[in-house]
Amino acid sequence: MIGTVGISRDITEFKRTQAQLVQAGKLAGIGQLAAGIAHEINNPLSGVLGYAKRLLKKAEDEELKKIPGLEPFQREMKLIVDSALRCKKIIDGLLKFSRTSETVSMAVNINEVIDEALILFGNQLSSQNIELNKVLSPNIPNIRANHTQIQQVFTDIIINAIQAMSNGGTLTIATRPVNSSAVEIEFTDTGEGISKENLPKIFEPFFTTREPGKGTGLGLYMIYRILQEHHGHIDVRSEVGKGATFVITLPVADIKT
Ligand SMILES: Nc1ncnc2c1ncn2[C@@H]1O[C@H](COP(=O)(O)OP(=O)(O)OP(=O)(O)O)[C@@H](O)[C@H]1O
Ligand SMILES: [Mg+2]
Repeated sequence: MIGTVGISRDITEFKRTQAQLVQAGKLAGIGQLAAGIAHEINNPLSGVLGYAKRLLKKAEDEELKKIPGLEPFQREMKLIVDSALRCKKIIDGLLKFSRTSETVSMAVNINEVIDEALILFGNQLSSQNIELNKVLSPNIPNIRANHTQIQQVFTDIIINAIQAMSNGGTLTIATRPVNSSAVEIEFTDTGEGISKENLPKIFEPFFTTREPGKGTGLGLYMIYRILQEHHGHIDVRSEVGKGATFVITLPVADIKT
C-alpha cells in the first residue's frame, strides 16, 4: 500500500512474527520496570497526597483566609494536591493491571461487548458529528475472556478514535470470524492519523501526543497487555490526515492455545 504506514500488512508472516516478538519482549521489559517503580512510589506518594490535603484544608480554614497574603499559598497547595492526584491516577492504573493478572474467563460475545461499550458514547458521537458504521458479523463465535478487560480494550480504542476526530468523521466497527479459530475486530476512524515516526511508539507506556496533563499514554499499553494475556494481538495501520485502523485478533472459546 503506497503511502500507508503500518506494522503488519506489507511484510511477510515470518517478519511479522519476528517484529511482534521483539516488540513483545521490549514492552514486557518496560512494563516490569514501570510496575516496579509504581510499587515503590505508591506509599511515599500517598504520604505526599495525604499531608498536602491536610495542609490545603488548614489553608482553607475561614479564620486563616482572613490573613493577608495567604491566597497564593492556598492556590499553590491546591496545585500540589492536583498534581499528586494525577500521579496517583497513573500509579493506580499501573498497579491495577499487575493485580488483575489472574484472568477470570468466561464465554464472551464480542458483538454484545461492542454494543455495551457504545452505550457510553451515543451522545458524544452525535454531538461531535461522528457517524457510526457498525458491521457486526451475526455468526461470530464466542471468545473466552475477562469481560471487563475486553470492554476496557474496546472503550479505550473508541475514546482514542473520538479524540482523533475532533472535526467529525466516521467510526467503523467491524467483527468477523477468521477461519474457525479466531475472531477479528476492526476499528477504523477517519481522524488525524498517526505519523510514521510515532507509529512504532504508540503501544509504549506513557507515550502520548496529548497536551500536557491530558493523556497518560497508558491506554494502548494496557490494551496490548490485556490482549497478550488473552493470546490475542493488535495491529495498526494509519496514514496521516486519513485516519487509523486498529485490528484485534482473539482466539475463539473452544480452541486451546
Ligand atoms: N485512533 C487514533 N488516531 C490517531 N492517533 C491515535 C489513535 N489512537 C492512538 N493514537 C496515538 O497514540 C497515542 C497513545 O495512545 P494511548 O491511548 O496509549 O494514550 P493517550 O490516548 O495519549 O492517553 P490516555 O489513553 O491515557 O488518555 C495517542 O496520544 C495518539 O497520539
Ligand atoms: Mg487513549
